[in-house]
Amino acid sequence: MHRILIAPSILAADFSRLADEVRRVEEAGADWIHCDIMDGHFVDNISFGPGIVAIVRKLTNLPLDVHLMIEYADHYLPRFIEAGANSITVHVEPESKHDVAKTLEQIRGGGCRAGLTLNPATPFALLEPFLSQLDLLLIMTVHPGFGGQSFRSEQMEKVRRARDWKTKNNPVLDIEVDGGINPVTARVSIENGANVLVAGTSIFRSDDYAKTIRDLRGSG
Ligand code: DX5
Ligand code: ZN
Repeated sequence: MHRILIAPSILAADFSRLADEVRRVEEAGADWIHCDIMDGHFVDNISFGPGIVAIVRKLTNLPLDVHLMIEYADHYLPRFIEAGANSITVHVEPESKHDVAKTLEQIRGGGCRAGLTLNPATPFALLEPFLSQLDLLLIMTVHPGFGGQSFRSEQMEKVRRARDWKTKNNPVLDIEVDGGINPVTARVSIENGANVLVAGTSIFRSDDYAKTIRDLRGSG
């Protein structure tokens, strides 16, 4: 069993004092910093780009986990690699308009860990051809685009399928969940096989980041 890793999503941080927010989650025990990149096309929201990722890189030594919710991920990838990403996750849906196998190779070629994800409505079967190319498999537990949505428990079926594949084929694969993660849904996700938990609202809207991170990990 992997150690449970907590990846605060800075999408929910107070950007007027981003440096302080990153320092606070690091001191509170965060394992990775999750950066949600949205382009207004693949999802109906715009967040931030490689310039902010490069700033976050200077603020922390924690691994930067970059989640690209954008079209033409292959085109923009080099800029996120250059900005200092440690893992980069792309979407499998055809609307993201890239050659998934090639993009995954490009991520690894840039020295990053390669991740693939899918929207709640996308069947797990779409991921299957790429599983052996992955370091990280991200199961979206909300429809991507906005923080603060409710966890979709029916997505746990995909987490269990990922866990079965991991057990048989690659015990070091990270299985990450993203969206609506709080201490209750964290527990459900862990029970089904997730070992990396992304959390925005539940951490950055709490009064005590360290306690929330402990509660998410289940070590509170
Ligand atoms: C959703 C993003 C998530 C989101 C999580 O589009 O990929 O990372 O920020 O936020 P919460 O934890 O608020 O659901
Ligand atoms: Zn995300």
